[in-house]
Amino acid sequence: PSAPERFPDGFLWGGALAANQYEGAYDVAGKGLSVQDVMPRGVVGPPTEGPTPDNLKLVGTDFYHRYAEDIALLAEMGFTTFRFSIAWSRIFPRGDEERPNEDGLAFYDRVLDELERHGIEPVVTISHYETPLALAREYNGWTDRRLIGFYERYARTLFERYGSRVRYWLTFNEINSVLHEPFMSGGIATPKEELSEQDLYQAIHHELVASAGATRIAHEIDPALKVGCMILAVPFYPLTPDPRDVWAAKQAERANYAFGDVHVRGRYPGYFLRSLASKGVELVVTEEDRRTLAEHTVDFVSFSYYMSSCETATRPRQPGGGNLMGGVVNPTLEVSDWGWAIDPLGLRTILNDYWDRWGKPLFIVENGLGTHDELVTGADGRPTVEDSYRISYLNDHLVQVREAIADGVEVMGFTAWGCIDCVSASTAQMSKRYGFVYVDRHDDGTGSLERYRKQSFSWYRRVIASNGAVL
Ligand code: BG6
Repeated sequence: PSAPERFPDGFLWGGALAANQYEGAYDVAGKGLSVQDVMPRGVVGPPTEGPTPDNLKLVGTDFYHRYAEDIALLAEMGFTTFRFSIAWSRIFPRGDEERPNEDGLAFYDRVLDELERHGIEPVVTISHYETPLALAREYNGWTDRRLIGFYERYARTLFERYGSRVRYWLTFNEINSVLHEPFMSGGIATPKEELSEQDLYQAIHHELVASAGATRIAHEIDPALKVGCMILAVPFYPLTPDPRDVWAAKQAERANYAFGDVHVRGRYPGYFLRSLASKGVELVVTEEDRRTLAEHTVDFVSFSYYMSSCETATRPRQPGGGNLMGGVVNPTLEVSDWGWAIDPLGLRTILNDYWDRWGKPLFIVENGLGTHDELVTGADGRPTVEDSYRISYLNDHLVQVREAIADGVEVMGFTAWGCIDCVSASTAQMSKRYGFVYVDRHDDGTGSLERYRKQSFSWYRRVIASNGAVL
């Protein structure tokens, strides 16, 4: 049977952003520094001692001051949901304080007021690559067990303050990315090359316990709150049909599956424990940790999807470009300007695999094309971008979401990444754009910060208005 023409009623349509990539105002109203404030070149360069003027994230796209205008643009597209993160260091400037910063909390009250006015359902990421810098410098981030308590205090503060207005919560953005980017993702100050596997996996364990702890607190405060994990999803294909390549691909996927397995099933899978043993890692897991993991599993699974990758055990490894996950090049796929393989069908594969494996509602909270855009004068005389490439990319991926829904997968919603242009995470550039809205800011920091609607803006509005029927 062919796929239904429409998405399910109540399907959440919208976009996603993260505090460190769009808010700016890095030192305003009591905000402390986060790891991002010392990452002017993203993950491609070492952190600096303190903030430096070439760090585009310090200003971002100035959402902190322009939130009302930006949210009005989202509303104009018909967004029914908006995913954003709260900057931990606005609420707890160092991360280890007893009491939160009221000015920081008040900012998100204002953002939520604006969303409410437009009838947009918020989805909040509690920690999105913006660990307070003091926790990185003085505790070595998540390697230190005390981070669990600090995070739980922060999460409790958010649930108590905003729980009546925010139903959907994500605990850690792309929690599995800490495997590859320990500083950005886990606030771990030890340089990646010097970090022991023992410390890395202990940090992962602490994050998993904190995620389950936050789920417990949310449900205690209000059982109606829905808490999800957030995984960087990459299907890995065997480079050849050789069973050894099939196994290599499976192992690469399991490195990511492990995070969902713990969040959904409440315990470490056997394959993961075996791999820890083979690395000589001995996790410190308390009885209470075990109970927390087992008893406070997630309500749903959310994930980002940009690309697939390949693995091989039998051929020379030609390292794939693309996002943090690595793998080897898939010779059958085209890639974006930044070398990310374009694979819409991979999204259907992931949706089916996750559903078959976990049986939890799924939420696609990031997807999109990061590419160069050129501002031109539109038919109405206003600046615009003719981004038919972005429309094709998103259209092709959404068609696969519709197919997966027809396959029987329960999908809650879709939030396109970087719905208003923002600073990219991995490379800290403005020129890598994802948005339906162009922001006039450039890699050298110049630009008016004016917003312009791209062609994809009206396309996405039609998609949402028709609940996907125009795809
Ligand atoms: C995800 C992150 O990894 O991918 C986002 O959650 C990020 O923060 C997005 O922006 C796209 O990556 P990039 O490096 O192109 O911004």
